Amino acid sequence: MTDPLASPPWLLLVSAFLAMETADSLVSLAKVCGGGSITEKVQRFIWDHCINEAARKGHAPYLKCFLKKLINENESNCSEVLDELYEQYAYLMTSMKSFKGNARVRKYITFLFPDGCLYLPSCPKSRKLMFPLQCSLNMLEGDTGCSIWPSSLFLSEFILSFPDIFSNKSCFEVGSGVGLVGICLAHVKASKVKLTDGDLSTLANLRLNLELNQLITKTDAPEKLSEDQNVVKCFHLPWESASESEIHAFMPEIILAADVIYNPECFPHLVRVLANLMNQRKSCSQSRKDTSESSVPDSIWVETKVNGTNEGFIAHVHASGKSDSNGHGIDSRKGAPKRDHPVAYIATVIRNIDTFNYFLELAEQASLTVADITETLKPFNLLPYMQSYDRSSIRLFTVSSN
Ligand SMILES: C[S@@+](CC[C@H](N)C(=O)[O-])C[C@H]1O[C@@H](n2cnc3c(N)ncnc32)[C@H](O)[C@@H]1O
Repeated sequence: MTDPLASPPWLLLVSAFLAMETADSLVSLAKVCGGGSITEKVQRFIWDHCINEAARKGHAPYLKCFLKKLINENESNCSEVLDELYEQYAYLMTSMKSFKGNARVRKYITFLFPDGCLYLPSCPKSRKLMFPLQCSLNMLEGDTGCSIWPSSLFLSEFILSFPDIFSNKSCFEVGSGVGLVGICLAHVKASKVKLTDGDLSTLANLRLNLELNQLITKTDAPEKLSEDQNVVKCFHLPWESASESEIHAFMPEIILAADVIYNPECFPHLVRVLANLMNQRKSCSQSRKDTSESSVPDSIWVETKVNGTNEGFIAHVHASGKSDSNGHGIDSRKGAPKRDHPVAYIATVIRNIDTFNYFLELAEQASLTVADITETLKPFNLLPYMQSYDRSSIRLFTVSSN
């Protein structure tokens, strides 16, 4: 018999459960598994692969909410409910302590790779990657940095879809939050991953997530590890107080950010940090380039205007001229174009167009070029079970120094 965990829709159901998707979406996935209803076989699967697991490490209010929904669904259709599920629900009803809004939970984010799309240096044969992440149920906790925001899911899908852009590159993230982007960067073998955040409680939670994913070890065990063995490091970096010399110490090749363009008060500082990161390496590499012979680039950057607007769209075009409509394949062999100066990849939801335009204005004043690459380099949909994640609301921009 084939392992149900290896095939959709069962795989989608268990992935959605581990990522703590809503009870409604779990019930609809469970119905897909049962061909329209939550059959005994589906309930047995839920009991074995979701509830039993969750009872050990899960979050009781979440479990209770899911069970309530499932039981209601079956009772309203006059369908049987397994005794075990009733009993677990009754147990949770009586034993659960009062629920606090700031509760931390452990979500498991599973990236599911479709056939033929996978090229991950860390696990070339794997079809799925699962990362545990501690996060808060309160979206505002840790200055918003203790929950997973959709832009970081998108940026993570991008990194895993185009690993060659990032592998062997030194990467630097601002506003790292729970650390998912950094964990994906480590998986595609970025040479260095530096994660930063301005909030100290977010940073503590980020550090814990790196430990959970075996990417960093506790600082209290120095004998086990010399300082430089961790590829991933995290730093406290509030944009307002980051000094030029502090920023210059980093010198990354690639800068990343997810969902940091929302508070206009921070923009002057954020843009200053980005401009400093961009320009330092540029001036360094420029002097190197001036003394070396010119060579034919592997790829060129093409900037086009779309729909007659001023929105600049930049496409990666490989020297071979090969690409597909999604941009997949462009980078699969050789990676993104070799650039002498850093480029930033920023994923964001544009919630308020005036706020976003203000960011663009400041970027322009700082001589930064912002280009929308959402339609040009589309990542694979690696989170097909996540109904709470609306990929269409996210834009991906590159920022470079002009
Ligand atoms: C909306 S959260 C996004 C977190 C994460 N990148 C994600 O997408 O899940 C914004 C992040 O930026 C950080 N942040 C906000 N203002 C900041 C500032 N002025 N300096 C440094 N970090 C800041 C917050 O602490 C938080 O982690």
